[in-house]
Amino acid sequence: VASQVYPKELATVAALPSGTPIRLRPIRPEDEPLLIELAARMTPEDLRLRFFAAIRELTHEAAARLVRIDYAHDMALIAQPMHDEEILGVARYAATPDTREAEFAVAVRSDWKGHGVGWLLMEKLVDTARQRGIRVMSGLVLRANPNMLRFCRDLGFAIASNPDDPLTVFASLVLG
Ligand SMILES: CC(C)(COP(=O)(O)OP(=O)(O)OC[C@H]1O[C@@H](n2cnc3c(N)ncnc32)[C@H](O)[C@@H]1OP(=O)(O)O)[C@@H](O)C(=O)NCCC(=O)NCCS
Repeated sequence: VASQVYPKELATVAALPSGTPIRLRPIRPEDEPLLIELAARMTPEDLRLRFFAAIRELTHEAAARLVRIDYAHDMALIAQPMHDEEILGVARYAATPDTREAEFAVAVRSDWKGHGVGWLLMEKLVDTARQRGIRVMSGLVLRANPNMLRFCRDLGFAIASNPDDPLTVFASLVLG
């Protein structure tokens, strides 16, 4: 991974619909144990919906790859409470070398789903992608994930079938 400057200007505080403030910031290598803990606090079903595979835990190797990013082509934002370091959710994208398109993914800790954390993360991720010149953001979603499909539609993403895989669809947003 090409070493890049940590984009600390992306750190922000935003409020959930309940009024609870949440800190958002780009992930950094030191967050690896917190990311492993986040995965440990997701149900097997939520992990399967995120990774499309039955994984029992996030290994050190997998977590290391997810926290070491270049912030130029790859971005990952985490959500944290105001006074605790625990990670409540992550949204990330990986852009093509020309940074015109990016693929995204998002996961929220199972006991925090439905409180607006995913929404805050995705809004900030879309803003960041737009600022960085990405034109289209898309992601693969399992057809059997109606919550995510509804969430994507609410965020303005269009849903299209994936000709290569009947079990997944593409959720895409033009950022123009
Ligand atoms: C899918 C997932 C990322 C959604 O995140 P979340 O934090 O649970 O979702 P939110 O609480 O932000 O949104 C829930 C609802 O509130 C709405 N909402 C939340 N904040 C809002 C806001 N500020 N303004 C308007 N609507 C808002 C959302 O549109 C959504 O509506 P819906 O019920 O019609 O879908 C999360 O449930 C998750 O991690 N699931 C398991 C893993 C997974 O499926 N990942 C996706 C892989 S492709």
